[in-house]
Amino acid sequence: MRAVKLAPSILAADFARLGEQVQAAAAAGADYIHIDPMDGHFVPNLTFGPMIAEAVRRSTTVPLDVHLMVEAPERYIDAYRDAGAGIFTVHAEACVHLHRVVHLVRNAGMRPGVAINPATPLDHVRWVLPDIDLLLVMSINPGWGGQEFLPLAFDKLREARRLIDGLGLDVELEVDGGVNHETAAMAVRAGATILVAGTAVFGQADGIAGASRRLRESVDRAGSDE
Ligand code: DX5
Ligand code: ZN
Repeated sequence: MRAVKLAPSILAADFARLGEQVQAAAAAGADYIHIDPMDGHFVPNLTFGPMIAEAVRRSTTVPLDVHLMVEAPERYIDAYRDAGAGIFTVHAEACVHLHRVVHLVRNAGMRPGVAINPATPLDHVRWVLPDIDLLLVMSINPGWGGQEFLPLAFDKLREARRLIDGLGLDVELEVDGGVNHETAAMAVRAGATILVAGTAVFGQADGIAGASRRLRESVDRAGSDE
């Protein structure tokens, strides 16, 4: 069983108490804090930029996993590096010269990731896979939290797992969107190694600690069922 990591997404956090909530997620065992910049162009929604990443950085030592839903994300490589980002994930659909961007991210000292939307085939990332540390399979159309997991992502995760293993690569396989205690277990069985969860961590009645524990338990159960 591969080690599975949890990456709570602050998109569902209470921004009036962001530092506190990030610390609660970290104390509950978060492996990464997932940060979702959106530019109002690549996706219709508009969220935040490097300033918020830097504020999160000051609240925790947990590595930051930045998922850029912006066009031409290479414009922001230095800003997020300076803000303390660990992983810098760009959308394949947002980069005309994806290979170049991935190398710019690596040269800036961050770990490069590439994300693909539900309709984008894995072929689009095949030739950069050896150069990246993380492949993000979107299980929703990006733009908002709280959407339902699209079942097509399970097949795509399985296909991605076969591709990564077939090439003998050590690339994290992340899934993002609609991850809850049910879909988390299924995504892990399909080969995911990092689970992003916004609503399932920050939007639950039993609070961040209780929700994180439940998510972790369902992931562990998925592993022991294998
Ligand atoms: C949406 C973002 C996600 C979002 C997931 O476009 O990329 O990271 O926070 O939220 P949930 O877990 O609520 O689907
Ligand atoms: Zn995300």
